[in-house]
Amino acid sequence: MATSSSSAPELMAEMIEALELEPGMRVLEIGTGTGYNAALLAYLLGSENVVSVEIDAEVADRARGALQRTGYRVKVITGDGEQGYAADAPYDRVIATAAAHTVPYAWVEQTRPGGVILVPWAETVHPDGRLARFVVGPDGIAEGRFISQAFFMPLQGQRLQPHVGFAAEERWEQAGRPDFTRYGITVTERGQTIWLDSPEHVVAAQESP
Ligand SMILES: C[S@@+](CC[C@H](N)C(=O)[O-])C[C@H]1O[C@@H](n2cnc3c(N)ncnc32)[C@H](O)[C@@H]1O
Repeated sequence: MATSSSSAPELMAEMIEALELEPGMRVLEIGTGTGYNAALLAYLLGSENVVSVEIDAEVADRARGALQRTGYRVKVITGDGEQGYAADAPYDRVIATAAAHTVPYAWVEQTRPGGVILVPWAETVHPDGRLARFVVGPDGIAEGRFISQAFFMPLQGQRLQPHVGFAAEERWEQAGRPDFTRYGITVTERGQTIWLDSPEHVVAAQESP
């Protein structure tokens, strides 16, 4: 049987606050789960402005039913959220409610310039799970900073190999245990870089597949 859990309501509230929503904005959620967060977004923005993608068909069906019963006609797409949902792009906000170590470039492409992508970050920078908040520039480059603590189950397809987590922790120790606020991430069509203090000081780089 498919399982999915809702995230802690206070964490959801914090994430929604970090989205800095305004009336009329369109949001793409990755990881529908129970549909609880999608319902909150629909309450704030109107169901027609929320699209949510869930990879597990059974979980998606259940969430669709729950959302319908509570009166929120959110579009729930069954599919891999790493592809985003191009048919309804562009979005003002993309929120992932499963952790990632790599930002799929589809999310950047499908976000308006000036838009925000919020994603719980796997432990590749700092030993604790952190929430990364990216802003998409007019040049199609997204730049992210870490804003708070957040632990989530990983996106399917983005489970962290233990050696990657260990290497990240070692790197962090060797750098003198910098505070998470000192790190940044830059995402371009070609790949992503994680840097300390400034984009010139790259600590990890990864090319797009
Ligand atoms: C912590 S739950 C999300 C909680 C949800 N936002 C809520 O309000 O209940 C994470 C969800 O992400 C889904 N998921 C994992 N990988 C995914 C992917 N690649 N694309 C879409 N959904 C994914 C999981 O099946 C799970 O339902």
